[in-house]
Amino acid sequence: MSDDIILDVKDIGLHFGGVKAVDGLSFSIKKNQIHALIGPNGSGKTTTLNLITGVYQPQWGEANFDGKNISRMPRADIAKIGITRTFQNLRIYNTLTVLEHVLVGDYINSNTGFFSSVFKLPAGRLDEKRAVSKSMELLEKVGLADKAHSLATSLSYGQRRLLEIGRALAVKPKLLFLDEPAAGMSSNEIEQLIELLRLLKKEGMTIMIIEHRMKLVMNVADWIVVLNYGKKIAEGTAEEIQNHEEVIEAYLGKSHQKISVA
Ligand SMILES: Nc1ncnc2c1ncn2[C@@H]1O[C@H](COP(=O)(O)OP(=O)(O)OP(=O)(O)O)[C@@H](O)[C@H]1O
Ligand SMILES: [Mg+2]
Repeated sequence: MSDDIILDVKDIGLHFGGVKAVDGLSFSIKKNQIHALIGPNGSGKTTTLNLITGVYQPQWGEANFDGKNISRMPRADIAKIGITRTFQNLRIYNTLTVLEHVLVGDYINSNTGFFSSVFKLPAGRLDEKRAVSKSMELLEKVGLADKAHSLATSLSYGQRRLLEIGRALAVKPKLLFLDEPAAGMSSNEIEQLIELLRLLKKEGMTIMIIEHRMKLVMNVADWIVVLNYGKKIAEGTAEEIQNHEEVIEAYLGKSHQKISVA
């Protein structure tokens, strides 16, 4: 694995009965780049992410992260070595504030044992202060600091997606996957997301977004991988992908989604 590659996926596959959700897929992710995984509905994007993050185990093939084969690793261990994701279906809790959502994400990053946190032993209290200030910094970054003490349920759909990213960042991932971060976002929120992704890249983060909103993909992705029926049909730069015949056909022919960057 060459030095600039952080994740190398080789010929992975998972079939659900007759459905070839992921069917012999290979691609790699380079450090400090923004990648996009695109394709029509049902083409296997989320399943690919589930295979990499240990939600499912591949029936064949393997994925190597930072030189380690992670294809049979338990999900919690994959998270611990630095792969974090957001979910296509948002995970927002009714009773938690915006800040608390990020604190929960940060909790597994804390060195303090569970009991000292619960019983508020001095080490726990110190850690709690630090966690709150780190979480506030993250909320600042995703543009939600002024909402810190509101219930997360008071946020717009797009703001909830930004909160999910804030929560994912709390565990300081080496590789961040975002599953449709712009779904339900307004134009303004997409602009905000584009700025955030650019900032994260500047800070050294490696990211792969799964996304239908081409305005976002074409604006931020250094490299795009295109799936159709669980297979890679193309990969390249935004310009190469926009003009790729098979990609245009997959979008227009099967899901009526034009490759429009508007
Ligand atoms: N747990 C499952 N059991 C059975 N079939 C599944 C399961 N998960 C996914 N599939 C099927 O696998 C295929 C790929 O699904 P996947 O969710 O990965 O697509 P996707 O590219 O993320 O689509 P979308 O853009 O709609 O999110 C689909 O045909 C889907 O119905
Ligand atoms: Mg999906």
